[in-house]
Amino acid sequence: MLVEATVGKVRLLCRAILAASLSTFVFASAAVALHAQADCLTCHGDASMTDAAGYSIAVDGTKFGASVHGSLQCSNCHADIKGYPHPDKVATVECATCHSDQADQLKGSVHADSKDHPCTSCHGNAHEIFPKTDARSAVYPLNVPKTCGQCHSTDGMAGKHGLASVYPNYIDSIHGFALSKEGLLVAANCQSCHGSHGILSHTNPKSPTYKANIPKTCGNCHAKIDADYEQGVHGKAIAKGNLSAPVCTDCHTAHAILQPTEAAFRMQSTPICGNCHKDKFSTYRDTFHSQLGSLGGYVETARCWDCHQAHDVRPASDPGSPINHANLVTTCGRCHSGANLSFVQYQPHANARDRKLNPGLYFVRLFMNLLLGSVLTFFLLHTILWLIRSRYSQVKNKGANGGKNA
Ligand code: HEC
Ligand code: HEC
Ligand code: HEC
Ligand code: HEC
Ligand code: HEC
Ligand code: HEC
Ligand code: HEC
Ligand code: HEC
Ligand code: HEC
Ligand code: HEC
Ligand code: HEC
Repeated sequence: MLVEATVGKVRLLCRAILAASLSTFVFASAAVALHAQADCLTCHGDASMTDAAGYSIAVDGTKFGASVHGSLQCSNCHADIKGYPHPDKVATVECATCHSDQADQLKGSVHADSKDHPCTSCHGNAHEIFPKTDARSAVYPLNVPKTCGQCHSTDGMAGKHGLASVYPNYIDSIHGFALSKEGLLVAANCQSCHGSHGILSHTNPKSPTYKANIPKTCGNCHAKIDADYEQGVHGKAIAKGNLSAPVCTDCHTAHAILQPTEAAFRMQSTPICGNCHKDKFSTYRDTFHSQLGSLGGYVETARCWDCHQAHDVRPASDPGSPINHANLVTTCGRCHSGANLSFVQYQPHANARDRKLNPGLYFVRLFMNLLLGSVLTFFLLHTILWLIRSRYSQVKNKGANGGKNA
């Protein structure tokens, strides 16, 4: 306590002396050259210092000294301040003088507007910038989502530009959970998929989030899955430029990615395959597996990918496909122990409305419908005749007992 108080007093004294000598120089109308940080901090090191408008102009010398720019002189950034008094209007700091690569990339990006997006909008306090590998940095992997989320969340600045809120979805996703709860540095943060300074809209073919580039973007980390996907029919279609085939985010979403074993994912993904394969979806829905799946949210039944695989999806004609006739015993056998050739005659996509594809079923269905129709017609006729007859005997009876019981 005593030591601190003494140091404080000494500091104050020094400041007073410097300020006094500065004033002397100022009054003598000779500007004082200020070289060292300490020269500037004599005044700006006072935590309570504000400018005429009441805006804080204090700089924490200790934090600044520890920051990545701690060895620079104040005037390396505040290039127009060489001494005291200051120029009336201090020029805006140009980070680009030393970091031209980042500045050039930013200029070509969605965040090009330098008023809305100064470097400090992502890097935080200009005097407390740390290397990206330092946990104190605003762009340290674990801090990136919060940094981007300042604007890309409900009520954030991006919302006012008509963009959807992203942060809440992301933070509840498998990646957000891995990052914020498990502290996994290797989990995907905003920067892993979007980049940092050169961020482009997903409609730009050069963007890592452009549809055709997404498998590679996710594949930077999920390498084996990307390799499987590229071998499958969907991956090959995308590689050929057929953008109607699905990429990772069509099935997983970009920001609300769930763990695929979760019930919510298994329940919602069947309709996702079904969005594009409408005919197969409707025939699947007619079958036992789906009927079971829709009863009380039962999730263990066969979903599309349990028979087709999720990533290395192939047509039935491909001998490597799990639904190729030669592989069905193995495919169905994963769940039906003892499945044999006669068991796999069962058709998961049987379509009783299609005469060419399933003639047997078609005629059985036709016969059953005809039977149902004729039985119904017979009983309808029978009921009508019976009604007419009973009315007839009522009228007849009325006549017989003089209308008393009518
Ligand atoms: C003798 C005290 C003193 C010293 C030394 C001093 N300043 Fe200042 N500085 C001030 C005051 C007072 C203001 C507020 C001026 C105002 O309100 O317009 C200020 C304002 C500023 C501003 C903000 C201008 C703005 O637009 O709001 C910057 C930047 C600044 N000083 C940088 C420096 C740097 C860099 C040094 C060292 C090279 C330095 N100052 C040295 C007193 C000082
Ligand atoms: C890495 C560059 C950099 C260095 C080094 C730097 N500053 Fe700054 N300073 C900035 C930026 C950026 C701003 C925000 C205003 C702007 O964009 O011009 C700023 C603003 C200020 C302000 C205005 C109040 C505020 O916080 O917005 C003061 C005062 C100031 N600096 C003083 C100093 C002093 C004193 C030093 C040395 C100890 C210093 N600066 C070193 C970049 C720097
Ligand atoms: C939209 C947010 C954003 C803006 C705006 C931004 N940065 Fe960055 N910056 C980042 C992120 C995120 C990283 C970390 C990149 C990584 O981990 O690879 C980073 C990293 C850096 C690095 C470390 C080297 C590198 O490129 O990875 C420097 C230097 C840097 N930024 C300077 C700047 C400068 C200078 C500006 C202004 C011209 C700026 N940044 C504007 C988000 C931003
Ligand atoms: C006078 C030159 C200069 C200016 C101006 C300058 N910097 Fe730096 N910056 C450096 C130097 C030198 C380093 C340290 C480089 C190193 O250690 O690799 C650095 C490092 C950084 C880093 C950390 C890079 C990493 O490895 O993660 C970031 C982020 C950064 N600067 C951002 C900024 C921002 C934002 C501004 C503007 C407010 C700015 N710089 C202004 C010289 C400057
Ligand atoms: C200071 C607020 C702010 C910060 C911080 C910020 N953004 Fe943005 N971002 C915006 C605004 C505003 C737009 C819309 C730009 C426009 O259309 O003029 C935008 C646009 C985008 C877009 C393009 C959307 C589209 O398709 O048009 C992406 C992607 C994006 N930001 C990602 C990020 C990422 C990733 C980060 C963090 C590294 C980040 N942003 C940090 C405000 C911010
Ligand atoms: C796993 C990869 C991934 C991560 C992590 C990620 N994004 Fe995205 N983001 C994408 C993809 C891919 C798109 C393209 C649109 C789509 O497929 O939905 C996108 C689209 C966007 C858009 C544009 C939305 C629009 O309406 O056009 C913004 C803004 C955005 N992301 C911001 C962020 C922010 C902020 C974070 C971090 C909190 C983040 N993203 C994390 C992959 C990712
Ligand atoms: C920076 C690396 C990285 C990128 C890029 C990335 N991921 Fe991930 N992802 C991970 C990590 C690490 C995990 C594991 C998290 C855990 O288990 O806690 C994960 C988990 C997942 C899971 C859950 C897996 C499971 O079994 O729990 C899915 C699904 C997923 N990611 C899909 C994607 C998609 C789709 C993309 C692209 C839009 C993508 N990832 C981009 C690193 C990444
Ligand atoms: C056609 C839809 C679809 C596409 C496209 C797709 N996935 Fe999947 N993905 C799934 C399904 C369904 C599962 C669940 C598989 C299971 O439970 O057996 C899954 C599972 C996963 C898993 C968990 C590990 C596993 O195999 O169970 C990860 C990680 C993953 N996908 C990432 C990706 C990445 C990265 C891409 C793009 C290269 C991608 N997915 C493309 C539907 C898809
Ligand atoms: C975004 C739309 C889309 C989604 C979602 C989708 N597919 Fe596909 N699928 C296609 C397209 C387009 C093709 C044809 C690719 C080609 O050969 O050019 C295809 C081809 C196939 C084939 C090969 C059929 C044939 O006739 O060659 C199978 C099997 C298949 N998909 C199964 C699935 C399964 C299982 C899922 C869900 C896990 C799924 N698809 C999700 C669009 C989609
Ligand atoms: C119980 C296993 C099983 C399930 C579940 C299943 N399928 Fe199939 N699927 C098959 C078999 C076996 C074939 C090949 C014989 C046939 O066409 O009936 C096939 C054929 C297909 C084909 C045509 C492939 C070709 O090469 O002609 C597509 C597309 C398809 N299924 C999509 C789906 C979709 C989408 C779902 C979920 C809504 C789904 N399947 C659910 C087993 C299954
Ligand atoms: C992911 C696991 C799974 C796969 C793969 C699977 N099934 Fe099933 N299947 C089930 C479940 C669960 C039931 C309902 C419980 C039961 O009766 O065994 C069922 C029921 C059935 C039934 C009606 C009840 C019965 O046992 O006779 C038939 C027929 C059937 N499946 C045929 C197939 C055929 C053919 C294949 C391969 C093309 C197949 N299944 C693949 C899980 C699966």
